[in-house]
Amino acid sequence: MDNENEHATDRQQRIYSEVLLDHFRNPRNYGSLPSPDVAYEEVNPLCGDRIRIELEISDNRIVAARFVGDGCAISVAAASILTELILDADIEQGAVISSEKLLSSLKSDIKPSRMKCALLPLEALRSCLKIFKQPRTNA
Ligand code: FES
Repeated sequence: MDNENEHATDRQQRIYSEVLLDHFRNPRNYGSLPSPDVAYEEVNPLCGDRIRIELEISDNRIVAARFVGDGCAISVAAASILTELILDADIEQGAVISSEKLLSSLKSDIKPSRMKCALLPLEALRSCLKIFKQPRTNA
């Protein structure tokens, strides 16, 4: 590791909490569900990164949640934490997970310029639940 990279890693470790780094390095619920009831991919227009959330819902409860994506440490950690927060939640509870709750779970000082990264998975979740609640037509 050259000096510049070493400094960047040091800096990253000071800014990002152990919780965030752990979820980034060992993301929970990463992968795809065999047959999700709903899925949605959100793109960060600022960088082009994507996070896709997939849910299995039974009796209005989120019984499985997975994510896949190509994102920075913040967005991947946020997606990992979010999938843990919503597991076994009623879809109404899942829908009301607040930005503040997710941000505080990251236990890091997320700068305004990186807020979109942290909230990308939450936007994907909200879209999933919105789609799921839409009346389905029998085609
Ligand atoms: Fe792209 Fe964070 S830099 S989602």
